[in-house]
Amino acid sequence: MAEAPASTDNNFDLVVIGAGPGGYTGVIRAAQLGLKCAIIEKDKTLGGTCLNVGCIPSKALLESSEHFAMARHGDFAAHGLKVSGVELDLPAMMSRKDKIVKDLTGGIQFLMKKNKVTVFNGWGTITGPNTVVVSSEAGKQGLQTQLTAKNIMIATGSVPIDLPFAKPDGKRVITSTEALALPEVPKHLVVIGGGVIGLELGSVWMRLGAKVTVVEYAPMIAGGADQQMAKTLHRVLGKQGMEFILSASVTDVKASGKNVTVTYEGREDKKKQTLDADYVLVAVGRRAFTDKLGLENVGVERDNRGRVVVDAHLRTKVPNIFAIGDAIAGPMLAHKAEEEGVAVAEFIGTGHGHVNYETVPSVIYTWPELASVGYSEEQLKEKGIEYRAGSFPFAPNGRAKALGTTDGSVKVLADAKSDRLLGVHIVGPRASDMISEAVVAMEFGGSSEDLARSFHAHPTLSEVMREAALAVDKRARQS
Ligand code: NAI
Repeated sequence: MAEAPASTDNNFDLVVIGAGPGGYTGVIRAAQLGLKCAIIEKDKTLGGTCLNVGCIPSKALLESSEHFAMARHGDFAAHGLKVSGVELDLPAMMSRKDKIVKDLTGGIQFLMKKNKVTVFNGWGTITGPNTVVVSSEAGKQGLQTQLTAKNIMIATGSVPIDLPFAKPDGKRVITSTEALALPEVPKHLVVIGGGVIGLELGSVWMRLGAKVTVVEYAPMIAGGADQQMAKTLHRVLGKQGMEFILSASVTDVKASGKNVTVTYEGREDKKKQTLDADYVLVAVGRRAFTDKLGLENVGVERDNRGRVVVDAHLRTKVPNIFAIGDAIAGPMLAHKAEEEGVAVAEFIGTGHGHVNYETVPSVIYTWPELASVGYSEEQLKEKGIEYRAGSFPFAPNGRAKALGTTDGSVKVLADAKSDRLLGVHIVGPRASDMISEAVVAMEFGGSSEDLARSFHAHPTLSEVMREAALAVDKRARQS
């Protein structure tokens, strides 16, 4: 069962269960610190949800579908490029995505070898504070390997939440996993949930030609985002053709042959209506995946949402058993899991490890993208924190004009007295890359004036960030 073990015995300083971004990043850091490490993964390839069926394949399809939409809908024509006969080769698009995934998951395998981390392919069960058993399947006897571990890191991630009346069948009622590998472009894709997955994968299929209807329980899409930004994204996606039914709860989904009927109920008028679709994507959130891990064998607690309970050092009740990422509370984001994995490795290896949860960025990779860090205006109002806001649109920015994408704006929120940055929100082109500047500034306790006085190369999209920072002090230049 063990794949070419880097170690000849099965005694480790750290055994990590789950080889997603949190697990593999954490185990590499632990190996760098001189710890003898193993990682257990139940899936055939390393990389977890993010690399195999999440962040990476979705970004591959988002890029490809964006090119298709640009070629088809006239953006190229505006650049003076005449293209005709644009056709979709869906199998080729899917193969490209699969190759990217294969390259990256293979890369993780290489990194494990390079860092002398022993990889076990199988199901990890914690059998005692210092023992983990690897078996072929959960709860299965048979071929088993027993590992002893001075420390254990639970990095088992999350799985999609099911709706009791919309159980995914993998064919017509699908989760994000199947939505990344559909064999055809849906005629009508109904997406249940206007969150991150719904908007990203809805965008992919809309760009490829599907009619997409998003049914969202809340009165707005992109729940949790700064409302002004969420509204802008809503407007722009609507302009692109995505349809939204807000404040509505899906109450029933019936699949029959190639058709699916979705029943939803308006939250205010209580009126029941139906939608006919050929595919329904259930994207109503994810839950921590901590099933059949053997937590009861050692008394590790879970909360009412199945998340492993940890202290500020990411330790469970058993001091040498740690948990990170989607398996614990907090935003379900790969980079949050990575930082927690590193923090645990450093805590074990050096006695210190820390994650600054105030600067975790979040991104929705639609076009334009929505990226943010820190507090939204709504959160600041709720907390009674006095702030000053500065906003600036992409429309007058030279680089955005050259790019041909001028929707959106940047909003900078700073403390009213100290000017310390409290939040930065972007809807715009390449917002995902632009947000890093704000993250670094906030990590250093920076102010809006720090952002405003820093060089920003001209012409770049990042100048919009600078103008928004200047606008906090009512000093924006171009408008
Ligand atoms: P989500 O929590 O972002 O959105 C789910 C949405 O479904 C919510 O807006 C909720 O109000 C709505 N909903 C729930 N029940 C409903 C019902 N019966 N009818 C209509 N609407 C309903 O969850 P999502 O999009 O499934 O993503 C799961 C997790 O994966 C999130 O935590 C997200 O952060 C993460 N993720 C992050 C990505 C990124 O960073 N770009 C990409 C994809 C996923």
